[in-house]
Amino acid sequence: MKEIATCIRTLRLDRQLTQAQLANELGVQYQTVSKWETGVSVPDTTMLPSIADALGVTIDELFGRKKNGCANSIPESNTAFLLQTYSQMYAPEAGPWNLSVKNKYLEYRFRDFFETHFTVPEDSQICNIGIGAGEWDTYLSYKVPKGSLTSIDMEDVCCRQLEQRLICEGNPNKITVIYADAMTLDFKEQFDIVTMVGSTAIESGDGLALLAKAISFVKVGGAIYYQSLDDKEDCNTVMLTAFQNEMSLAAFVEDNGYGFRCHYYKFEKRKRASKNINPIFENAST
Ligand SMILES: C[S@@+](CC[C@H](N)C(=O)[O-])C[C@H]1O[C@@H](n2cnc3c(N)ncnc32)[C@H](O)[C@@H]1O
Repeated sequence: MKEIATCIRTLRLDRQLTQAQLANELGVQYQTVSKWETGVSVPDTTMLPSIADALGVTIDELFGRKKNGCANSIPESNTAFLLQTYSQMYAPEAGPWNLSVKNKYLEYRFRDFFETHFTVPEDSQICNIGIGAGEWDTYLSYKVPKGSLTSIDMEDVCCRQLEQRLICEGNPNKITVIYADAMTLDFKEQFDIVTMVGSTAIESGDGLALLAKAISFVKVGGAIYYQSLDDKEDCNTVMLTAFQNEMSLAAFVEDNGYGFRCHYYKFEKRKRASKNINPIFENAST
């Protein structure tokens, strides 16, 4: 049934619909659409006519059985959209998170550091808050071929770009992209690992509230991997928020050669709150 999963996703993206918009039209929850698209479940047969209507195809085409169906092809509009958004992201106007050489350098430094200090079992259920250019999300997805990645962003364009990129890449892993404000998201699922960067916290307008919300997405025994470029005072506040939310902490600091320091944290969710939490601070300067 992989065919119908790929077809629903490809046809939906080709029609520029988010999972939530399609779900709304069908009277189901966006999680249901996400499960169809990742092959976790298949639509009930009674829903097939409505799904086909909503996507403007026949039921045969929904199964990739005619040349007008998706047939696993990459619609031209996908590649055109990706080219357009990527050329914008390489431009300086894309602001602090464009794909400049400096930012790419930081991204790869972060990956090296991550590989050294953090463990990601390949069956982990991961959630990343803040997609941006989507570089981090695609990297993470390849680390969990037997698990899953749920990526959340409040910007429609970031969600669409990641989804279309996954199709163009032929990414085989289980990824759910959620277009929502994480701060107000009513989430039932919990994850082994939640990741977030400080710039997402800053952009959200209330980073500590977003961090507290992220903590609520973590299973007991799970962890948050958080990276920030904040100064020491902000870092202390971040640590305090973690303590107050029953997390234990390992923090690493790295000089990155650009005159500021990266702070990396691993917060682990405890079974019970402890009054004797001692942060482990490790200087990872190279
Ligand atoms: C700097 S980018 C993230 C970069 C990405 N994590 C990476 O490492 O490549 C910040 C993103 O966070 C998103 N964001 C900010 N506040 C958010 C919130 N409350 N809920 C969901 N996304 C949010 C923004 O829309 C933006 O795309």
